[in-house]
Amino acid sequence: MQNKITAAITGVGGYVPEYRLTNKELETMVETNDEWIVSRTGIKERRILKEKGAGTSFMTIRAAKSLLESTKIDPKTIDLLIVATATPDVMAASTAVYTASEIGATNAFAFDMDAACSSFLYGMSIAARYIESGHYKRVVLIGADKCSSMMDYEDRATCIIFGDGAGAVLFEPSTEGLGVQDEYLRSDGTGREFLQAKLGSSYPPTVDSIANRTHFVQQDGKTVFKTAVSMMALSVDTILKRNNLDVDAVQWLAAHQANKRIIDMTAQRIGIPAEKALVNIEKYGNTTSATLPLLLWDFENQFKKGDKIIFVTFGGGFTWGSIYLTWAY
Ligand code: COA
Repeated sequence: MQNKITAAITGVGGYVPEYRLTNKELETMVETNDEWIVSRTGIKERRILKEKGAGTSFMTIRAAKSLLESTKIDPKTIDLLIVATATPDVMAASTAVYTASEIGATNAFAFDMDAACSSFLYGMSIAARYIESGHYKRVVLIGADKCSSMMDYEDRATCIIFGDGAGAVLFEPSTEGLGVQDEYLRSDGTGREFLQAKLGSSYPPTVDSIANRTHFVQQDGKTVFKTAVSMMALSVDTILKRNNLDVDAVQWLAAHQANKRIIDMTAQRIGIPAEKALVNIEKYGNTTSATLPLLLWDFENQFKKGDKIIFVTFGGGFTWGSIYLTWAY
């Protein structure tokens, strides 16, 4: 009898823009200071895409090329390419489709999907189902956001947090049972008033919306913070219980990098030691859809085959959840 197919991550790539927006530079832009930002968020700098006219695809293409380089696969063998993003290049024409063409994935179909900061996590669920179905053998999932494009650099409640970046992973079938093991995904639309950018079909851009700066991201940080800790802890707890996993058996917690205090409090609530929580927020800030793949990109050389990794996110919408995955190489 053929083994059940599971969906394994078999390679990682990434790209972050060169430009570093430091806390010192932010001090010249808004009423803030390095000490406050580091102690309240853990962020020291973020990368900003400065190239003129460059959108999210500038980063997805580079992240995908870095993945092709590390995996040595022929782009023509990619079946599906998904871009998880809240900041597509343009409305209506998919960033994923453009990315696939630019990297030579001429036999792939491609689409974008958006669940704010949970986009990559939800994307993992989609990629896993396509692989498990047996229909597709190579799915590239890219998490990318040019958060700077929706930031108000006069609003200290948001602009100190977000940065730009992209990470890419390859999903392939495993017959050893490695890869995605279980998931718990949820959403609640009553949360959208607490974190959103009023730009879209309900809010087409107008002279007033630009003047009032309402097209930029706005958030109620305290509500988002509290809900994020509760829902992330609940998600991980649910996944651990459902899979009879003790925290000692888990090697890594890959949590969305929104705020170092959110990560610490989530780990503490579920009893996962701080050293198991992957953290790179100090370098990139919150890159929305890119935080999880950028963690994998940065920490890949520390993972061992069979390591149990618990992913967890919380984002605008609200969207949240957790995925349990075993590392495949
Ligand atoms: N620099 C300096 N001071 C600041 C500041 C900044 N950038 N932002 C706020 N402050 C001040 C406030 O005015 C307030 O001063 P006061 O006590 O004199 O009134 C004080 O710092 C505390 O403000 P508060 O808003 O309560 O801070 P906080 O501890 O809640 O931190 C966030 C603010 C935004 C960092 C935090 O709420 C957060 O991270 N929320 C979650 C956001 C998030 O993750 N969003 C994405 C979700 S995916």
